[in-house]
Amino acid sequence: MRVTTRTIAEKKSRGEKITSLTAYDFTFAKLLDEAGIDIILVGDSVSNVIQGNETTLPVTLDEMIYHTKAVVRGAGTYSLVICDLPFMSYQTNAEEGFRNAGRVMKETGAGAVKLEGGKRVAATVKQMTDNGIPVCGHLGLTPQSINQFGTYRTRGTNAEEAQMLKDDAMALQDAGAFAVVLEKIPAELAAEITSMLKIATIGIGAGNGCDGQILVLHDMLGLNEDFHPRFVRKYLNLSTDVREALKRYGEDIRSGSFPNKDESY
Ligand code: KIV
Repeated sequence: MRVTTRTIAEKKSRGEKITSLTAYDFTFAKLLDEAGIDIILVGDSVSNVIQGNETTLPVTLDEMIYHTKAVVRGAGTYSLVICDLPFMSYQTNAEEGFRNAGRVMKETGAGAVKLEGGKRVAATVKQMTDNGIPVCGHLGLTPQSINQFGTYRTRGTNAEEAQMLKDDAMALQDAGAFAVVLEKIPAELAAEITSMLKIATIGIGAGNGCDGQILVLHDMLGLNEDFHPRFVRKYLNLSTDVREALKRYGEDIRSGSFPNKDESY
């Protein structure tokens, strides 16, 4: 059975952990779906991981739609696919955000959208959720605001910031969001927000007290060698294996051993 926003709510009420990873293409989405990952996020981290940009700001709505369509085709039977709304596709006003979220839902087949911010975007979230578009919020470290903060440091480390995060989380819940990503905040604060909310929290660098966890796929597979934050657990060292395979392929061609008789017609 396909995971829906209702499944996510049920998992929270049963105390069952929610699994989530990012993906940006058909092939990986299929693997995630087959592995029973509950949520596949087509994150705007596609800007860093796939497009090679320094920040998430350059990726466009058309590009997010392109990647999400491929992921939806891969996530054939199980995972809920969420598409990130990119920078400047919802910040101007609620109406524009609503139209752009509508485009994502209509053109991609995704089950929900995600956007960054709390109180600031609550009216936008409400317009979406009032009109049948499920929304996941994103609080804490919000990479689309990197130019405002100037650093990727942990958020919510002082009382004022912690209170703001709690208020923002509540505002998202009141606006009808079905879940909220909590990025790079103290574990204790994330656990407090999780127990305060009826909706699910999905943590990344937010400790073990969240309802679920998410990582960027390329980080946990060890494909991104330049990024080592403490919250990333590497399950593979894929870049080493891929580099080795590519070297061997080149050697085999140069030595004339590829293709052999069995690999020819
Ligand atoms: O874009 C992304 O990959 C994300 C996750 C880090 C939550 O927003």
